[in-house]
Amino acid sequence: MDIRLQLTNTPKQKPVDETKLGFGHIFTDHMFLMNYKTGKGWHDARIVPHQNLNLAPSAMCLHYAQEIFEGLKAYRRDDGEIQLFRPEENFKRMNVSAKRLVIPQLPHEEEMVEALMKYIDIERDWVPRTKGASLYIRPFVIAVDPYLGVKPADEYLFIIIASPSGAYYSDGFNPVDIYVEKHYVRAVKGGMGFTKTGGNYAASLAAQDEAHQQNYSQVLWLDGIENKYIEEVGSMNIFFIINGEIVTPELQGSVLPGITRKSVLELCKSWGYKVSESRISIDEISDYYDKGQLDEVFGTGTAAVISPVGHLKWGDKVMLINEGKIGEVSRKIYDTLTGIQYGDLPDEFGWTRKLS
Ligand code: COI
Repeated sequence: MDIRLQLTNTPKQKPVDETKLGFGHIFTDHMFLMNYKTGKGWHDARIVPHQNLNLAPSAMCLHYAQEIFEGLKAYRRDDGEIQLFRPEENFKRMNVSAKRLVIPQLPHEEEMVEALMKYIDIERDWVPRTKGASLYIRPFVIAVDPYLGVKPADEYLFIIIASPSGAYYSDGFNPVDIYVEKHYVRAVKGGMGFTKTGGNYAASLAAQDEAHQQNYSQVLWLDGIENKYIEEVGSMNIFFIINGEIVTPELQGSVLPGITRKSVLELCKSWGYKVSESRISIDEISDYYDKGQLDEVFGTGTAAVISPVGHLKWGDKVMLINEGKIGEVSRKIYDTLTGIQYGDLPDEFGWTRKLS
């Protein structure tokens, strides 16, 4: 891919205290842009100063939410080198999301990874030096035609922005309290739950808002048809350790195929754990809890990596998981994944991609 460069003459000051970055507030000096037009395809890839977009108020993405996004991170190793974690998986998934939202396919994932690496190389000084902090990368596509009819657009913008960030949740890696959502649903089979599109996150806001009002961090989402089977937690995938076995809801259309989810499954399998992707109901979880067989519960996602669950409330019943403490397996998974991501542990899976 030919990428035109227009670099800034006025670089911003980098954050001084990397322990206070927060998540997604600060942006680097540049952004990556590429246009699409029907008949012309993707064209004019460029890296330009980070700036506001010039968008028509009638741009289709603003009205009918034809947009997709991804999230991944660049990590700084102790030797100063920068690496990405499974970036090709993000671009593969982006094309799955694109298909569902009738957005044109992006170039092959390897070409996209190469373009991303070129961009991150320019922003390399923005990759934090503190463990736990990283450069959060947000690729996204928006439909930009100035048109108010409901149809797939003819013009799109692919953009990458980047944000030096710390922990996603203010709780960090500490166990969070969640409740089982009985009223709202996040997605249904046949809908867009398996894609990374803004609409899924917009659909989750009312429940999240109510959860926060009740001093809960997130909600546990049940399926939208029977309101019975577990799907996700907040904006993350969910895992249960039941009697020593690792269980996560199967991907049946309404669950996001998380890259951390996939990595946890592969990691635990390699450690010899029995691992299963299955249809699991909240009644079953409650029964396992009563029998003392629910060992650990945790969410997985790019932003938080692993987020242990301390209390799980279902109606009047409050399940205290692992005495509200971080579980042994959750800790081991977290340490191993972050160890690989920051280059502190050998990457036996070939998951990391160093910038040259
Ligand atoms: C993630 O866990 O990576 C997410 O999906 C959260 C993101 C939308 C900030």
